[in-house]
Amino acid sequence: MSSIFKERKFEQPKSFKFSTGNLKKANEYIKKYPEGKQRSAVMPLLYLVQEQHDNWIPLAAMDYIATLLEMPMIQVYEVANFYTMFNKQPVGKNLIQVCRTTPCMLRGAKDITNTCRNKLGIELGETTEDNKFTLVEVECLGACVDAPLVQINNDYHENLTPESMEKLIDKLSKNK
Ligand code: FES
Repeated sequence: MSSIFKERKFEQPKSFKFSTGNLKKANEYIKKYPEGKQRSAVMPLLYLVQEQHDNWIPLAAMDYIATLLEMPMIQVYEVANFYTMFNKQPVGKNLIQVCRTTPCMLRGAKDITNTCRNKLGIELGETTEDNKFTLVEVECLGACVDAPLVQINNDYHENLTPESMEKLIDKLSKNK
């Protein structure tokens, strides 16, 4: 499957374990599913890995989840690879996803993308040297009424203009 990220060199960690707090959370998620259907918790667990592990999911974590859910590793890889919201390689601290579908495009999404490109000095799919930002374009984020918009990690920023996008990047650069 092709990736929205440009290829970059990175190391896969050799092992992964949930923190004590996240293991507790994982077990709570697993308990929500009926006996014998625990593998249905694979998606919430992948999200939990992403939260714990700097916004991306290493192979070791997929193996760890497979063991935890007693399911074949290949099935965890398949789920992680099918959904674009699971990052399989390192991304910046702020993953900027600019919606590029028609309503956002008609309301100036290209200007938002270009503002990000110019301000950050990177192209689509790339990450800034300081690892603070990764920029990608995605399809409809489901909030067309407030187009144009971007998703940055778990938050939506709507009704953007090039000026407000610049301000947003400034704030995030200062870790605000
Ligand atoms: S087209 Fe951008 S949110 Fe739907």
